[in-house]
Amino acid sequence: MAEGIPAAEFVRFADVSVVFGRGAASVQALQAISLSFAKGDFVCIVGPSGCGKTTLMQTLAGFLRPSTGAVSVDGQPIAGPGPDRGVVFQQPALFPWRTVEANAGFGPEMRGIDPAQRRARVETWLARVGLTEFRHRYPYELSGGMQQRLAIVRALVNEPVLLLMDEPFGALDALTREKMQEELHAVWRTSGMTVLFITHSVEEAVYLGTEVVVMSPRPGRIIERIAAPFARKEGDRDIRAIKSSPAFVAMRERILGLIWGMAEG
Ligand SMILES: Nc1ncnc2c1ncn2[C@@H]1O[C@H](COP(=O)(O)OP(=O)(O)OP(=O)(O)O)[C@@H](O)[C@H]1O
Ligand SMILES: [Mg+2]
Repeated sequence: MAEGIPAAEFVRFADVSVVFGRGAASVQALQAISLSFAKGDFVCIVGPSGCGKTTLMQTLAGFLRPSTGAVSVDGQPIAGPGPDRGVVFQQPALFPWRTVEANAGFGPEMRGIDPAQRRARVETWLARVGLTEFRHRYPYELSGGMQQRLAIVRALVNEPVLLLMDEPFGALDALTREKMQEELHAVWRTSGMTVLFITHSVEEAVYLGTEVVVMSPRPGRIIERIAAPFARKEGDRDIRAIKSSPAFVAMRERILGLIWGMAEG
């Protein structure tokens, strides 16, 4: 942590608004978003389609500058994309002409990390997500779930301080999705990484998040922040048992109620 930066402000969106376009055709995507969280938090964002979730993430990734307000990490204003922030998009954006291994090693290669260290990192992460035996294959030879795992590996090999994920499991079948949730949870628990995670699934948000942030319809504002205890739960991590426990169901239903309430105006 940089000196003088409060722990709870490791990531800080300060009064962030985003307006696309000009004049009558302009669209206000975000309105005065103020949100801070600590290193090691796993923050899940839920909210109706078009409420500005991706826009918010893009300001932190450094792909988009806020119209007003500021975004900072560890006290440093975001000036553009950087290897400290790994980004995983909803559709895996892989290089079709590169093998699994070469896709995974892209970031370290671009940064000039020496080949031996690069290979070691790639091997470690491919093994962790069960892709070792496919390392010489090409993306078209992988299933959708495997491609998504590779996209996650490609972000993780850079050992980012922050992992930004936009609906990363949206296209997966229910079983693969839960397996990926378990894998991601294990990576987060062992690495101490900070995660910002967008999802349309309230259940996924309550399971993975240390906090669930609910956004309003456009222009996106923060309606409520709910601390979730399940991600830090120790001991038996049976995903089905956690998701069917009364405390889990109650929190899931409360958040769904908030979202339904907004839809009904
Ligand atoms: N580059 C852009 N130019 C103009 N308008 C944009 C641009 N990007 C997003 N928007 C608009 O800003 C609003 C928020 O979009 P955003 O993609 O952030 O929503 P979202 O919450 O991620 O939605 P979804 O859940 O469907 O992915 C939408 O009305 C969208 O049309
Ligand atoms: Mg989006």
